[in-house]
Amino acid sequence: MEASRDVAAASGSVSAGDRPASAPAPAGAGSLLAVEGLSVRFGGVVALEEVSIAIAPGEALGVIGPNGAGKTTLFNAICGFVRPQQGRIIWRGEALRRVRTDRLIRHGIARTLQGVGLFSGLTVLENVMVGAERFRSSGWVGSLLGLPRSAREEESLRARALDALARLGCADLAERMPGSLPYASQKRVALARALVGEPQLLLLDEPAGGLDAGELEQLVELLHGLRGAVAVMLVDHHMEFVAHVCERLVALDFGRVIAAGDAATVRRDPRVITAYLGEEAAAPGARAQAQARRREGEGPGDA
Ligand SMILES: Nc1ncnc2c1ncn2[C@@H]1O[C@H](COP(=O)(O)OP(=O)(O)OP(=O)(O)O)[C@@H](O)[C@H]1O
Ligand SMILES: [Mg+2]
Repeated sequence: MEASRDVAAASGSVSAGDRPASAPAPAGAGSLLAVEGLSVRFGGVVALEEVSIAIAPGEALGVIGPNGAGKTTLFNAICGFVRPQQGRIIWRGEALRRVRTDRLIRHGIARTLQGVGLFSGLTVLENVMVGAERFRSSGWVGSLLGLPRSAREEESLRARALDALARLGCADLAERMPGSLPYASQKRVALARALVGEPQLLLLDEPAGGLDAGELEQLVELLHGLRGAVAVMLVDHHMEFVAHVCERLVALDFGRVIAAGDAATVRRDPRVITAYLGEEAAAPGARAQAQARRREGEGPGDA
């Protein structure tokens, strides 16, 4: 039973409901990250409902679903921004307790935000240096005492940040302020800031938004370059892009996993098509009404 559960978890389709409470299994064995039976509610809104998803080291996994499906909430739960009411998150075989956001990268997890999320008062280089803080050797005592970093350490962080910017093709932007840059460049900088900490898992929330075709192609190339080295969970509404980067997809709708498996199969899945068509075809406000009905206790099937 254990083996079959792991297989099911790896396919993103398992419900954690069948686990005996007395003996929690080492879930998602072999997975880098396993989310098990995760439920998140905001007041009456069910943002995630018993979601189980696993990702292997170095794998690129696409998380798709219409607006409000729960994609960002999933990332927020993994990153400790929101506290799930139910379920657990297993990181490298151990339960991930709620992590302070600024410590996430020390665990090997980095993310980019939906939107950009750079510090507007820092230069591009300083922004990326923030992502490299985990390499600071003076440790938390020094930081607690507000001791200045050594010049050598500063130089080392700077070199790492410049290297990350160069890999993203934007070393020339180092001294610019983020607000003075085009949106696409800001997104690149945000990606450099995420990658500079050398994460094992990179969570990308809508990285393609606002990019033109050429920029998108470069992003695909970059993400292909990470394949095998860094696990990537990719959320985006640009389906071609996601399917190009990820072999495996998990589709969410109304907070539930509605399909999981290889990209081609999931994209053809009638439930996925209906979820997206429903969004496009619905009269304005229909989705909000469905949410409201859900708040009143009807299941998503009734929506
Ligand atoms: N902080 C919050 N407070 C209240 N409700 C929230 C909060 N965050 C998310 N929600 C609700 O939870 C549901 C899931 O939202 P989420 O942002 O995760 O969706 P999403 O799949 O990322 O959507 P999008 O594609 O539009 O970014 C929505 O109904 C949303 O309104
Ligand atoms: Mg979102």
